Amino acid sequence: MGKHRENKRKPKREGKTITVGKAESVPPGRGATVKLKDGTEVALYNINGAFHAIEHFCPHKGYPLVDSRLYGHIVECDLHAYRFDVRTGECFTKKSCSIERYDVFVDEGFIKIVV
Ligand code: FES
Repeated sequence: MGKHRENKRKPKREGKTITVGKAESVPPGRGATVKLKDGTEVALYNINGAFHAIEHFCPHKGYPLVDSRLYGHIVECDLHAYRFDVRTGECFTKKSCSIERYDVFVDEGFIKIVV
């Protein structure tokens, strides 16, 4: 069995709250790449008005997940169709490929992510 790719742009867990932008800038059914100051990245999604954040990286071969297609709360990697739950980071295709999720909330119209 091959090793998974390592996400070199995964944010460090620091319990830090980061303001990433206005809630209206990510419409329902869409995703956005959030680039943090230290060069790390998170994939942010708006699913029916609820925001979710996961790693921006498919552990299979490293494809950026925001560029992939959404089916409700499932994102399907465009390269080889691994499927992830954007609410939990769980990989349905291969459990061991599950990715990190991050807390997201909206405060006075601004999206905040806890990394
Ligand atoms: S890179 Fe192969 S399924 Fe995502």
